[in-house]
Amino acid sequence: MRVLVLLGAPGAGKGTQAQVLARTLGIPHIATGDLFRAAVREGTTLGREVKEYMDRGELVPDGVTVGILLDRLSASDARDGAILDGFPRTRAQAEALDAELAGRGVGVDRALYIDVPSEDIVRRLSGRWICEAAGHVYNVASRPPRAAGRCDIDESALVQRDDDRAETVRARLGQQMGALGEVAAHYRATGALVMVDGGKPIAEVTEALLDVLRPAAERRVG
Ligand code: AP5
Repeated sequence: MRVLVLLGAPGAGKGTQAQVLARTLGIPHIATGDLFRAAVREGTTLGREVKEYMDRGELVPDGVTVGILLDRLSASDARDGAILDGFPRTRAQAEALDAELAGRGVGVDRALYIDVPSEDIVRRLSGRWICEAAGHVYNVASRPPRAAGRCDIDESALVQRDDDRAETVRARLGQQMGALGEVAAHYRATGALVMVDGGKPIAEVTEALLDVLRPAAERRVG
């Protein structure tokens, strides 16, 4: 089982890169934000509970978040591993994940931190559009869809996220960066942390991530 963690500020490009890595590595992309948004769309009890936190740009409490993530990680498509996007976001979540993986005889393989200056984040998120059907990610500036308002992959309508309004983006940055620093420190201590420059164009960031994941012997030859 190979578990990769993608870390970074809101809008750093975790979802964009996770979709490519999942296709390349053949393991599922699991994003707690996507799981929460699906629950909100379906109007479940969980959805009503988490919506308040998301609308305020705050983290959903650890108990709820860990439960939903570990449940998803137990599904059969994740038996060979997964790319976790947006989880863990607190030290408690990181420790809960470590404990679960230790029970399966593995640990987090790499924690890939996509580093982007905060001044770029608000601009990126105000230009983001995602598809209604599967959350495929576009950007008016850096990754426009081929046909305006339609997903290239499944042709569903493109929509903007409620929490991408400038004031909520600033709240997300203000409330979540401290905890992100603690998660990065956790993985620095375990030796899994790798920093990648996320300010470069999307394809270059993908290359840098794949380079980190290539076996050391292959990197020496290449
Ligand atoms: P979540 O959905 O995880 O949002 P996030 O972490 O804030 O991250 P985003 O999805 O906004 O950004 P991203 O890094 O995936 O960037 P993307 O690839 O889309 O969480 C939402 C909320 O749910 C949280 O605020 C919280 O309330 C709750 N939550 C979720 N997980 C939780 C947890 N574990 N614990 C507690 N609460 C939790 O890219 C952004 C834009 O930039 C796109 O338009 C893209 O096309 C563009 N772009 C990407 N890369 C580049 C590049 N290199 N150059 C130029 N543009 C780029």
